[in-house]
Amino acid sequence: MNNQLNSKIWPLTAKQVDGVISIGGCSVVDLAREFGTPSFIVDQADFIARATNWRQSLEKHFGANAGTAYYAAKAFISKEIARWVEESGLGLDVCTGGELAVAKAAKFPAARIEVHGNNKSELEIADAIDYRVGVIVLDSLQEIDRVARIAHSKGVIQKVLLRLTPGVEAHTHEAISTAHEDVKFGFSIASGAAWDAILATTKHESLKLQGFHAHIGSQIFVADAFKASAARLISMLSKFKSEFGFELPELDLGGGYGIAYTENDDPISADAALSQLSLAVKSECANHGIAIPKISIEPGRAIVGPSMITLYEVGTTKDVRLEDGTSRWYVSVDGGMSDNIRPGLYDAEYSITLANRISTAPLRRSRIVGKHCETGDIIIKDVQLPSDIAPGDLLAVPATGAYGRSMASNYNHMVRPPVICVQNQTARTIIRRETHTDLLALEIDEAPRKLTAHEKG
Ligand code: LLP
Repeated sequence: MNNQLNSKIWPLTAKQVDGVISIGGCSVVDLAREFGTPSFIVDQADFIARATNWRQSLEKHFGANAGTAYYAAKAFISKEIARWVEESGLGLDVCTGGELAVAKAAKFPAARIEVHGNNKSELEIADAIDYRVGVIVLDSLQEIDRVARIAHSKGVIQKVLLRLTPGVEAHTHEAISTAHEDVKFGFSIASGAAWDAILATTKHESLKLQGFHAHIGSQIFVADAFKASAARLISMLSKFKSEFGFELPELDLGGGYGIAYTENDDPISADAALSQLSLAVKSECANHGIAIPKISIEPGRAIVGPSMITLYEVGTTKDVRLEDGTSRWYVSVDGGMSDNIRPGLYDAEYSITLANRISTAPLRRSRIVGKHCETGDIIIKDVQLPSDIAPGDLLAVPATGAYGRSMASNYNHMVRPPVICVQNQTARTIIRRETHTDLLALEIDEAPRKLTAHEKG
């Protein structure tokens, strides 16, 4: 078994010594004994290093034109994570009242919060404005009016961006690509909807239009799509200048930067991505004769994805005979699609490593599955693992930090795993494991009652 953990995929402090993986100086054997499995293990030093690196790369390449590097909370958020984001000097992108509630609970500085969402409720808008969030990204004509009305009623002039759809193909999974035309997000530039939205926004005195936003998709590996999107937004800035006679100060180019899940993935670094983007932005602005706006970004996956691993324990193994005469080795772990829906939803691929011991057994083609009552509950379809893997062994899946715990469910009444933070040989729980009592606590015995009739007129 190869003892070199690929640093592209594993957290910065991950090591494998005599077969035992450790992160933040804590061995997974000790972590499993102390906290149980399945568990998410987050490397605090790794998260902070990646977050800082994205912020510094933005500052390095855009200089005085660097806007805010927002961490996209949807990838994974908790109060503790929000504090790390704040300490690392980033802003926070939230897209629901729930994510905003976490930011508030962590006392995240309001001015560094950006609020997204294609269907923000009146309550969410009011809550965001009351907290005095820095910027709200507007996504529909109704929302322009709603935010304007609520801001006006509170005597606030709210800074806003308009989410535009630049029509760029981002070469990623259909369900996670957002900026081609037939999507629910934003205002299309090509159809003229974007211009209508600009006119509608500028009519409201309670809205201060700062500029435009676009997010073209997720898990993107090449800078070209980001450059194309930036170019289209810049041409809108230029059109705005010629119509209104002044320039808007900001562009937010979204998140979407890809990470490595397997050896075959070759993601672009923050430095390379932002260096290319800054050259493209500078030359496009020069072509249009406009000043370079402040450039903001919203990476989520690229920060938290590689910071976390999932630790599972093997429960059963089974040799299943296939119709073609061959057989498949099924290895079942104690989690599955409730803690990682991504393979089922997006055909996402992951790596996996025997984490608690050395094995010199020959490799065997294996399929790693969860414990849900569903055939599609597969974590890894096909992987070569030591053939002596047996019940009680620990398996570690790296790069599960983004959209793992945040998309976890209670399917089959599975309790959601805890998130354990490791650093400098210490470990602590930042989100505890759910219990059956937690799940049952949502059920109440309520007497039937008549509802008040809706009054007409
Ligand atoms: N900004 C906006 C407006 C977004 O919609 C997203 C992600 C991000 C930033 C952060 O994107 P990131 O840097 O994390 O790629 N559940 C899917 C990903 C959905 C992404 C939705 N929006 C997955 O598991 O791959």
